[in-house]
Amino acid sequence: MVSSKGTRITWLGHATVLIQTAAGTNILIDPFIAQNPKYPKDFALPSTIHYVLLTHGHGDHISDAAPIATRHSATVVAIYELAAYVGSKGAANTIGMNLGGTVQLNEVAATMVEAKHSAGAQDEHGTHYVGIATGFVLTIPGAPVLYHAGDTAVFGDMKLIGELYQPEVAMLPIGGHFTMGPKEAALAVKLLQPKVVLPIHCGTFPMLTGTPEALASQVGADVQVVRWSPGEEYVA
Ligand code: NI
Ligand code: MN
Repeated sequence: MVSSKGTRITWLGHATVLIQTAAGTNILIDPFIAQNPKYPKDFALPSTIHYVLLTHGHGDHISDAAPIATRHSATVVAIYELAAYVGSKGAANTIGMNLGGTVQLNEVAATMVEAKHSAGAQDEHGTHYVGIATGFVLTIPGAPVLYHAGDTAVFGDMKLIGELYQPEVAMLPIGGHFTMGPKEAALAVKLLQPKVVLPIHCGTFPMLTGTPEALASQVGADVQVVRWSPGEEYVA
């Protein structure tokens, strides 16, 4: 039986994560649902999703953003150009922001931070400039600080993210090929100093070969690397 207190973090496969705060705010990050081979098909999203956060414009992070925003009356939060793009695809409510900025989403302070990755959005007309790739730090009163890195390589300024926001729970891509793999993620852990790592962007496609076990073998025993499957929840 899971405690109702704390922040509930549910992995929905790939980089898609549902965050439900103790105060009742529901946030969905990088909704990749219809085309996501690892989405838990029988999982029921909450009827209200207050905010959809997008880390960058690639299809495996935004393909369901506009439909979810419409169906769940959600406000989409993304870097300025991407927010405008998703707005043009049908999301009625958007908040455009940029690196280093913080927006208040109910009781959650969402800070946009750097990521090292490309970010064009593709549709039937070609590839569009939709800003750059980002990550999010979520600061929640009375709860651990969360960090969703988006798609990224490891980079030295992760140290600044650690210093500024002290994330306790880090959702890090570990699959390799399109993002850092376990070797690079182990250095990210050193720079960020979280207590818990929730691996994402792994196991979705055959070329994403990085595993939680490979990461766990390269970090200290004081860091918990959670082995979870899509549909499973971690309570922070
Ligand atoms: Ni990407
Ligand atoms: Mn991706």
